Amino acid sequence: MSAAEIADIELVGVTKSYGGNVVVVDNVSLTVPRGEFVSILGPSGCGKTTTLNMIAGFHEPSSGEIRIRGRNQVGVPPEKRNIGLVFQNYALFPHMTVQENVAFGPKMKGQSKSETEEAVRSALKSVRLEGYESRYPKELSGGQQQRTALARAIAPRPSVLLLDEPLSNLDLKLREAMRIELKEVQQQLGMTFVYVTHDQEEAMSMSDRVVVMSDGVVAQEGRPSEIYQNPVSAFVADFIGKSNLLPVKQARDHDGRLTLTLGGGLSLVSERSGDIPANDITLCCIRPENVQLARKGASGENLLTGRVDKLVNLGAHAELWVDVSKDCLLKVQVPVRRLQGIEIGSHVDLLIESAAIQPLAH
Ligand SMILES: Nc1ncnc2c1ncn2[C@@H]1O[C@H](COP(=O)(O)OP(=O)(O)OP(=O)(O)O)[C@@H](O)[C@H]1O
Ligand SMILES: [Mg+2]
Repeated sequence: MSAAEIADIELVGVTKSYGGNVVVVDNVSLTVPRGEFVSILGPSGCGKTTTLNMIAGFHEPSSGEIRIRGRNQVGVPPEKRNIGLVFQNYALFPHMTVQENVAFGPKMKGQSKSETEEAVRSALKSVRLEGYESRYPKELSGGQQQRTALARAIAPRPSVLLLDEPLSNLDLKLREAMRIELKEVQQQLGMTFVYVTHDQEEAMSMSDRVVVMSDGVVAQEGRPSEIYQNPVSAFVADFIGKSNLLPVKQARDHDGRLTLTLGGGLSLVSERSGDIPANDITLCCIRPENVQLARKGASGENLLTGRVDKLVNLGAHAELWVDVSKDCLLKVQVPVRRLQGIEIGSHVDLLIESAAIQPLAH
C-alpha cells in the first residue's frame, strides 16, 4: 500500500468488554480514508462513545487492533495520537478567553508565538468567530461556545478530528445551521472527521459514509443514500427514516421480480430481488413518501385501496395511516396540497412503485 492509500484510521476486529463478559463493542472493523467524513450512528448504549474513546486512546480494546495512518496504536497515549476531540459539553476553559482557549493546543505542541497566533487566527476564521478573541466562554452563546470548541480542536491541525454528539446541547435551528458549518470546515481543511451521533438526520446530512451500530456491532455501512434506500435489516430500515415494515408470508421469484404475499390477501410486486433468496424473505420495507395517492380508477400492479384511519397535518406534508387490509395499516406521506377531500374515514387508492419495495430477511 502506498502512503497515499494508507487509511487514516483502521479498526480491525475491535472488541471491548468491561469487567467479565459484558461485550459493548463486538468485533468492529472499520476503515476511514484520509479526508472522509464518517459518522457512527446508533441508538443510546450501542457502543459509539466506547468506539470513539478507543480511537482516541482513552480506552484500550480488549482485543483487535487500532491503526492510525497504518501504525498500531497499542500503548500509544491519547496526546501522541495527533487527534483532535470535540464533545457535547464544549469543555472550554472558563477562565480563559476565546484566544487563549484556541491557543492552548498549538502551545502544548510547542509552537512558537507567531505560529500559535497564526493557528488561532486561521481556526477562528474557519468557524467565523473573528472578533471574539477577548471574550470569555460565559459571554458566548451556545453555538459560539461550540464553534470555539471546534476552533480549539482544529487549531493544532490534528490529522483526525473525533466528535462525540457535539451539537446535542444546541436548539434545533442552531443544530441545523451548525451541520452545514461543520461540513464546510471539514471540507475546507480536508480533515478526516469521525462523528458520533444518535441523530440520523445529522449523520445523513453531513457524512460521506455512515456506520450504523446496534448492540456493539456494525449493522450496516455505506453512503447515506445507500443506507436509506437499501437498508439490509429491519433494524436499519426502522432506525433510519420512517418506514412501513410489513411481514411477508411468501415470496416468489420470477424473472428478477418478486411477488410478495402479505397478510389479509394483499400481494405486492417488488423490483429488488437483491441478494436475498426468496425463501429467506420475511419482511418488506416501504418508505411512507414512496406511497402515492393514485387517481380514481387507476389500474396496474401495487395498487391498494384503504380507509384513512389517522391523519396528521405537519405543514408541508401530512401523514396518513391507511387501513389497507385487516392486518395492515400503511403509513403514507403526502404533500398537503394533495389532501383536498381527504379526511379520516375517506377511502383512498394508493400506488407503490415496485422499485420502492425493499425485501428484507429479518
Ligand atoms: N466504564 C464502563 N463500565 C461498564 N460499562 C460501560 C462503561 N462505559 C460504558 N459502558 C456500557 O457500554 C455500553 C455502550 O456505552 P457507550 O457510551 O459506548 O454508548 P453510546 O452508543 O455512546 O450511547 P449514547 O448515545 O447514550 O451516548 C453501555 O451499555 C454502557 O452502559
Ligand atoms: Mg455516547
